Amino acid sequence: MHKICVIPGDGIGKEVVPATVKILEAVGDFEFVYAEAGDEVYKKTGKALPEETVEKCLECEAVLFGAAGETAADVIVKLRHILDTYANVRPVKAYKGVKCLRDDIDYVIVRENTEGLYKGIEAKIDEGITIATRVITEKACERIFRFAFELARDRKKQGKEGKVTCAHKANVLKITDGLFKDVFYKIAKEYPDIKAEDYYIDAMNMYIITKPQTFDVVVTSNLFGDILSDGAAGTVGGLGLAPSANIGDEHGLFEPVHGSAPDIAGKGIANPTATILSAVLMLRYLNEHEMANKIEKALEEVLAEGLTTPDLGGNLKTFEMAEEIIKRLEHD
Ligand code: NAI
Ligand code: MG
Repeated sequence: MHKICVIPGDGIGKEVVPATVKILEAVGDFEFVYAEAGDEVYKKTGKALPEETVEKCLECEAVLFGAAGETAADVIVKLRHILDTYANVRPVKAYKGVKCLRDDIDYVIVRENTEGLYKGIEAKIDEGITIATRVITEKACERIFRFAFELARDRKKQGKEGKVTCAHKANVLKITDGLFKDVFYKIAKEYPDIKAEDYYIDAMNMYIITKPQTFDVVVTSNLFGDILSDGAAGTVGGLGLAPSANIGDEHGLFEPVHGSAPDIAGKGIANPTATILSAVLMLRYLNEHEMANKIEKALEEVLAEGLTTPDLGGNLKTFEMAEEIIKRLEHD
């Protein structure tokens, strides 16, 4: 039995996470340890990420997180740091029944999660003059590239091409991205069975629109990955469908890419797909591939039949969509 820390958080997190927990309960035995984080607990206690929550995250095998509101940076960025989840994994996949740019899109963006411009080193050095420091270290590059090549190797076993594409801006950021690119090709030599290629991030931003079907695993630095992955999500149906995994050597945290969506929170119409797919990533991380495949297959059927929430053109509520998935799990 797996022990999972569940943090619904704020807004639609309170809707999509319970729907996902029901689906998990339909495929296996889990011990769910509930914890609080976000705006609501901040208002109650003055802490967006209580100590207790951190302890629960540390003692569980994985964390399933919904969304935080305005306190997101104090919650999720901090948690990624504490858990040292250095790889942010964001699959970009076209599902049948969902309006996508093409129907053969299936790649994964791996974003370095601990440094780059998000290291948080900013300063005001004079009136009207501010700076931010971009940190790129060989050590962090090596582990994120190894992670990307290992992932490409796993995917190759499932019939994918076996290719890693590195996106950077080494022509302008000569020192930091110069190192990033050099380390990429150094690590690539450890994986002769996997192809390696690189593009400048600005061109890459075009290629995810003009030739997304050619990518397998894309690896990039923190800020570039943040921007690229939201754009990529837009090519396969948008935020309601975009899952993510934060993975380190000791911990894994799984969350939809979207936030608390205050504009639709409380209406029961949030799309649970991004959170369900995040749970699928969590099951794969826990080596529960059979459970993961079962849920993904049931979800694929429901999407293909148009049994969705309003954001995808359907008329189901969050829980009704989850129930459609559970029905298909039981009939399996
Ligand atoms: P958002 O992702 O919450 O919403 C953007 C738009 O997408 C909204 O129109 C929303 O209704 C729609 N949307 C998002 N998820 C959806 C779903 N599952 N089904 C249907 N429609 C969905 O981003 P926004 O509006 O920029 O931020 C709202 C709050 O969320 C802010 O307080 C922000 O700080 C927080 N946030 C938290 C994140 C996290 O916890 N990881 C990430 C991004 C934002
Ligand atoms: Mg983002």
